[in-house]
Amino acid sequence: MKIVIPKEIRAHEFRVAASPETVKKLIGLGFSVSVEKGAGLGSAIADEDYDKAGALIDSGKNLYKDAGLILKVQRPMLKEEGTDELSFYPKGAILVAHLSALTHPQDVAAYAKAGISAIALECMPRITRAQSMDILSSQSNLAGYKAVLDAASVFGKAMPMMMTAAGTIMPAKVLVVGAGVAGLQAIATARRLGAVVSAFDVRAAAKEQVESLGATFVEVESDTDAETAGGYAKEVSADYKARQAAKLKEVLETTDMVICTALIPGKPAPRIITKEMIKGMKQGSVIVDLAVEMGGNAEGSVYGEIIEKDGVTLVGHANVPARLARDASQLFARNVYNFIAAFFKTETKTLSLDQGDEIIKAILVVQDGKALTEKETR
Ligand code: NAI
Repeated sequence: MKIVIPKEIRAHEFRVAASPETVKKLIGLGFSVSVEKGAGLGSAIADEDYDKAGALIDSGKNLYKDAGLILKVQRPMLKEEGTDELSFYPKGAILVAHLSALTHPQDVAAYAKAGISAIALECMPRITRAQSMDILSSQSNLAGYKAVLDAASVFGKAMPMMMTAAGTIMPAKVLVVGAGVAGLQAIATARRLGAVVSAFDVRAAAKEQVESLGATFVEVESDTDAETAGGYAKEVSADYKARQAAKLKEVLETTDMVICTALIPGKPAPRIITKEMIKGMKQGSVIVDLAVEMGGNAEGSVYGEIIEKDGVTLVGHANVPARLARDASQLFARNVYNFIAAFFKTETKTLSLDQGDEIIKAILVVQDGKALTEKETR
């Protein structure tokens, strides 16, 4: 079966879905691999590196000829977005990517119309067996790290405490909003840079994880745990939101840097920091909003821009994992390879997409041109 690795064409995307290491392993499984010319350049992978790993470097019409598997980072562009990527895909091909299927149902309908099968890697269940295939974890971890560096780079102060002959510099106070994968890495990174860190999350389990990293957990009283069976957050009640806002307002008055990471799968990001709260922050403070693509946790943050509001810098970089494309691509590529290796059948030399398997049931959104019922809330 032929695998195709296209060059990503969406704005702000520098990652690629296969690395020379995974190309070699895929060929070892019995696949042939065609990589689009220049596909790895954004991740500092030259065509020659893929060539050495055994891939065919291709472009133009031939690239997708007889393709059985198409491995991508981003969901393909639809005709109405400018380039009809689906028109290149042969009927019966299997598309594997971060499809954002829950928030883009119109794309899922287009995959069905194109007669392909589609695997939404972001729907990977949070079970032990799937950990090595979990793109959300591998990419969020890097985003959490980079968010702190992005905050530090626009912060007009040092992060650690410094005792010098000219006087003492106090450590920066960092608040991390949402203590999932990105948030926990942001806590660890800010701590390594010498900041005093606090964090909060709606999931009760987050408290212990925050404290084990040496940060303070900001307590907001609640009668219910907002965690789903799948380990994600649920939307919280208006009453909880009001209590959270009162507590936050108080904490933000003394905070220098905020890293926002709060998300709810398939829904707009919860609005947690209001304009009024930003007004109450110290001049020169920084907010990095990793949730900006889903609408943002901080009111006024703008996707793809750094702006200033009431003396506070709001950083809304687009596609933060792609800002570390070299590492992000290596990890994404391994997640994809681990998925393929787990479901590859040597006898048929193809993937087994049996919905009896818990992983396939969660991630298969279209099978041979038939859209499957909407995935359950996780
Ligand atoms: P996510 O990216 O969907 O959300 C980020 C964080 O925001 C979550 O911790 C969530 O609880 C929090 N959040 C949502 N609404 C909020 C609000 N209104 N206020 C404050 N915080 C809010 O989630 P992520 O980071 O992908 O992971 C969620 C959980 O899954 C974590 O507990 C993580 O440790 C766990 N996990 C488990 C894995 C496994 O067992 N295989 C793999 C990866 C993650």
